[in-house]
Amino acid sequence: MKFTQAIVLALPAIAAAYPGMMGTGSRAEIEDYIRREMKREALENREAKPQLLKPVGNLLGALGGVVSGLLNSVGNAIVIESNKRPEPEYEFRAPGPNDSRGPCPGLNLLANYGYLPRDGYVTYGQVLEATSRGFNMGTDLATVLATFAVLGSGDLDGLSFYLGAGKNGIGGLNRHSVVEADVSPNREDYYNGCGDNHHVSSRLVKQMVNFANDDPRKEFSLDVMASHYAQSAAFSKNYNPYLYYFPFPQIVSLGAFAFYPQFFSNGTYGAGGVANYRSIMSIIGAEFDEDSQEFRYVPERWPEEGWYRRATPYGVVQLLTEAFTVIYPRNIIVPGVAQIGTPNLSVDTFLCNVYQGINSITPLVLGGTLEQTSKAVTWALSVLDPILSKTALGCPDSVISPNPLFPESQREGGPVVPPRVPSDRNTGDNVYNQIYFTSEPKEPQCSR
Ligand code: HEM
Ligand SMILES: *[C@@H]1O[C@H](CO)[C@@H](O)[C@H](O)[C@H]1NC(C)=O
Ligand SMILES: *[C@@H]1O[C@H](CO)[C@@H](O)[C@H](O)[C@H]1NC(C)=O
Ligand SMILES: *[C@@H]1O[C@H](CO)[C@@H](O)[C@H](O)[C@H]1NC(C)=O
Repeated sequence: MKFTQAIVLALPAIAAAYPGMMGTGSRAEIEDYIRREMKREALENREAKPQLLKPVGNLLGALGGVVSGLLNSVGNAIVIESNKRPEPEYEFRAPGPNDSRGPCPGLNLLANYGYLPRDGYVTYGQVLEATSRGFNMGTDLATVLATFAVLGSGDLDGLSFYLGAGKNGIGGLNRHSVVEADVSPNREDYYNGCGDNHHVSSRLVKQMVNFANDDPRKEFSLDVMASHYAQSAAFSKNYNPYLYYFPFPQIVSLGAFAFYPQFFSNGTYGAGGVANYRSIMSIIGAEFDEDSQEFRYVPERWPEEGWYRRATPYGVVQLLTEAFTVIYPRNIIVPGVAQIGTPNLSVDTFLCNVYQGINSITPLVLGGTLEQTSKAVTWALSVLDPILSKTALGCPDSVISPNPLFPESQREGGPVVPPRVPSDRNTGDNVYNQIYFTSEPKEPQCSR
């Protein structure tokens, strides 16, 4: 029996497995949910281990022809019916002007369908459930991301955050250098984008699409995304004097490149799924405009011809492995981390360092008082503990080390002092149906 067929037959109807976690969720409920989901996902992953494809990429030109070539290359996706998304009761509705949307295409999309509140003000519990249900993001990965989002961009008491700009411009996922990072797949750096780190950038999509065009299967493979990363990292090193690339945002930036094939493919990438243009461009809201030969940013949406999420959860270990062995080595930004993959520094210890240095998050916590920070640390440890210390990662138990998680956080460019830009009018919630950044912003480029 072929490997992919085995997966199709072995998996239970996943849709039936959702415990259905509440709207908000008390802290105890959330911890309980995390433990339960981790157990369920471990079982699922034992049944099926996706293999990775390894094609090669290069660069080309002539965009119109490139796009039509990619549009025609749909691929023959092997999918599982129960993974079809959206499910019948979830309906696409474009966000209105008061709905908060920001740098994360995955969360924006989930809000556009009502998997998350449509106004874009989301709770921790809702995010864990929606990311699993909509994309099969592993609960360990979703927990780590959502925890940092609440710590640095959200409201610790309500365990909630805005998908775009926070209230009165404070916090929200748009906040720079907490979860949002420089060298993102299709957003400009905060400094070069004149504070716009959250709209899809046409020139970056053009760069990515040209790499995909050179892929033998015309797919947005992991290798294509690694080439895209390498070129963008080189640009940021040359033109962003405030490039701030430290542990947590770094994991997110690198991980986001792997998210394209892993979460946006039609089916399970590496196990019969295809990372085709139709799926990916629709999900990230990049629409080709024939007249200008640019990409317009439109609301994130699953492809109308039918789309199937990955069949197995994609979690922290797989993310770290791909980020640091496939993507990062193509263009090293912080030299110390080059040791990852050598006996000196394992993929695992990297996230463990983040976890053990959690007490150094002081500069991140909104409000920033000592009381808020110690509350934040206590809470973060309680939810990260079951994931980071007692699982495959096996970090030492609740050891708080003086490990500086955000070195030089007071430096301009870090989480406390974002780079000064000529205009602060580019930091609000996403505005759709426009074209952003048609060329490289070598100097801060202000659209408004
Ligand atoms: C679990 C909670 C999540 C949080 C808190 C979160 C947060 C973020 C943030 C802050 C960014 C900006 C990072 C940067 O500047 O590079 C981002 C980017 C991204 N996120 Fe999420 N995210 C979450 C879940 C997801 C899910 C479920 C998916 C996919 C299904 C996803 C896919 C992506 C991708 C592809 C990018 C890069 C966007 C681009 O530049 O093209 N995220 N996310
Ligand atoms: C996804 O795969 C299914 C089944 O192979 C197919 O019917 C559908 O058209 C595909 N959708 C996209 C966007 O590739
Ligand atoms: C958005 O909010 C503003 C200010 O509260 C309000 O005046 C406006 O009517 C709202 N727009 C929509 C579409 O809800
Ligand atoms: C590992 O660390 C040792 C001691 O600092 C150093 O001599 C060695 O070069 C390192 N190895 C790698 C591969 O980085």
